[in-house]
Amino acid sequence: MARHKHSSRHRSAWMQEHLDDPHVKRAKAEGWRSRAVYKLKEIDEKDRLIRPGMQVLELGAAPGGWSQYIAHRLNGRGRIIALDILPMDHVPDVEFMQGDFTEQAVERRLKGVLSGNPCDLVVSDMNPNMSGVKAVDQPGSIYLAELALQLALEVLHFRGIFLVKVLQGEGFDTLMADMKRRFDSVRSRKPQASRSRSREIYLLAKGIRQA
Ligand SMILES: C[S@@+](CC[C@H](N)C(=O)[O-])C[C@H]1O[C@@H](n2cnc3c(N)ncnc32)[C@H](O)[C@@H]1O
Repeated sequence: MARHKHSSRHRSAWMQEHLDDPHVKRAKAEGWRSRAVYKLKEIDEKDRLIRPGMQVLELGAAPGGWSQYIAHRLNGRGRIIALDILPMDHVPDVEFMQGDFTEQAVERRLKGVLSGNPCDLVVSDMNPNMSGVKAVDQPGSIYLAELALQLALEVLHFRGIFLVKVLQGEGFDTLMADMKRRFDSVRSRKPQASRSRSREIYLLAKGIRQA
């Protein structure tokens, strides 16, 4: 019997757009696990985030494109601790922990793994489970970013760097203002690989303000 499961006739518009996306094709050809890798790569090339020897905490790591890129940049020197609520296939030189970041027990486990050694870089590419309903997704995104900010302030070295993805909309200005109060500099970044119609943006903060 003929199978039409993979014919373009049966693909959703999203899946067709995904398959046609040049970043998806390039990531596949270059061996990266996600197209998202090009967002971090662009920000890293512009802002010089990652250097060998760093301790990096990565929140929302699966399927592992950013983990691969960070490991590649650390080049065997440094440490990467990556967390996701979903399982993730092993990435060499990456210590992966599975758990829901919104659970206090998971945050405690993460801190235990760091065992008091300050991080140089905390990155979060976490997305809430997108429902497509702005009234639900927007607060979900801000909530995850706020939690990531709180942890970053606790675990970062005073000259550390924090990169967080967030959706622009209600709560964004308050988050930005909060970050500006806590860090010496805060910039927004919209990498080319981030789809222009997406409200996602990355906030890049450097240097924790000393009281
Ligand atoms: C856009 S993906 C990250 C892609 C990744 N940067 C890459 O390059 O492969 C966002 C991830 O955030 C994770 N996530 C969302 N909410 C989370 C939570 N509460 N705790 C941990 N991970 C979460 C999702 O499971 C998802 O894998």
